[in-house]
Amino acid sequence: MNPVCNPYAPGAGAQPPELSGRDALLHKATVALQRIASSRSARSLILTGLRGVGKTVLLNRIRQDADALQLITVRIEAQEGRSLPSLLAPGLKSALIKLTHGKKVSDLASRSMRALATFVSAMKLKYHDIEMSFDIEPESTTPIISDLDENLIQLFQSVGAAAFDQKTAIILFIDELQLLNEKELASLIMALHIAAQDLLPITLVAAGLPQIAAKMGKAKTYAERLFEFPDIGKLDPESAMQALIVPAEKLNVRYTKTALKEILQQTKGYAYFLQEWGKHAWDLASKSPINERNAKDATIHALADLDASFFRVRFEQLTPMQKHYLRAMAELGDDSVSSGEIAAILGKKVTDLGMVREQLIQKGLVYSPAHGETAFTVPLFAAFMKRNV
Ligand SMILES: Nc1ncnc2c1ncn2[C@@H]1O[C@H](COP(=O)(O)OP(=O)(O)OP(=O)(O)O)[C@@H](O)[C@H]1O
Ligand SMILES: [Mg+2]
Repeated sequence: MNPVCNPYAPGAGAQPPELSGRDALLHKATVALQRIASSRSARSLILTGLRGVGKTVLLNRIRQDADALQLITVRIEAQEGRSLPSLLAPGLKSALIKLTHGKKVSDLASRSMRALATFVSAMKLKYHDIEMSFDIEPESTTPIISDLDENLIQLFQSVGAAAFDQKTAIILFIDELQLLNEKELASLIMALHIAAQDLLPITLVAAGLPQIAAKMGKAKTYAERLFEFPDIGKLDPESAMQALIVPAEKLNVRYTKTALKEILQQTKGYAYFLQEWGKHAWDLASKSPINERNAKDATIHALADLDASFFRVRFEQLTPMQKHYLRAMAELGDDSVSSGEIAAILGKKVTDLGMVREQLIQKGLVYSPAHGETAFTVPLFAAFMKRNV
């Protein structure tokens, strides 16, 4: 069918034509944010899940909902090698401009901008990736210390108080949270924790790979009390079907039952894969309904595409030893496996492989769901390894 009208949207962070199966979570998020905005205690959300399950899309939608509620949102994407202050400061500056825009600016609001200027000038001493300037002078009365903990606490207190004063909340949205270094993550959580104790309306909603929960727990034991860590998984069969059917129906196109069955079976309900299969099935079908033959052909095309891009880019960052390790894991299937089993296949001792495993966790390809266990962060990666290596 006409590819110009193809409704599906495979791609990182691409808004899906139908955001399926996430209503309960969206509701939970807006309740929590509204509670925080009205200085009531609530746990914010850290969305964790494998690659391509729809974390970024969900985070973006929660942010749009927060914007609609007139909350002030700050959008940040963590990046390898970038410091937290350099990521945080520009967005926070825009947020503070929004906070004061068109309003009778209270003392607190103008003080919060000064607090940010102070934060930036202190952090510039320590982090060299901050490029920002302010029209206002930093607070000269506060001695400049370059300790992140202390500066972040001061900053959030000031910004939180200003948001409270303006009857709103500042919500930081951080994607790829696992890329923040552990120390900076700990500082962030502590500053938010202290603000939460004073019921100040500033909080974090974030998304990242499954290793975040452990990383945050390690960073600060009270992270668990500050945040919920919903596991964003594959879509249940009903939602997966809706993700395919609803966008097509809007264009008067149907699927046969057997076509849906084939796609669900192949994609296992993973959001990104549903978009890929939907896209190919649409392009391959000559007319409605999209049938089983189209779905089967879509499987061939989608797998070829994934092998050439989604899986391949990840595979190509690996050293030969890392590839061996993942190939051995693939032999054991898609589920979490024990380090012992992998070592046995490679004919090595578990301790000899500790380093490779750690490197793969750092690269975000595997994570540790439980002590001594290892699992892929990329769904269906095992099958890819088996097809290609
Ligand atoms: N609930 C959903 N229903 C249908 N499609 C979805 C849903 N959520 C996400 N998608 C689609 O899945 C794909 C991946 O989404 P997204 O980039 O948000 O995943 P992610 O979890 O952030 O992945 P990564 O870990 O690689 O950053 C996109 O093409 C998006 O349109
Ligand atoms: Mg993402």
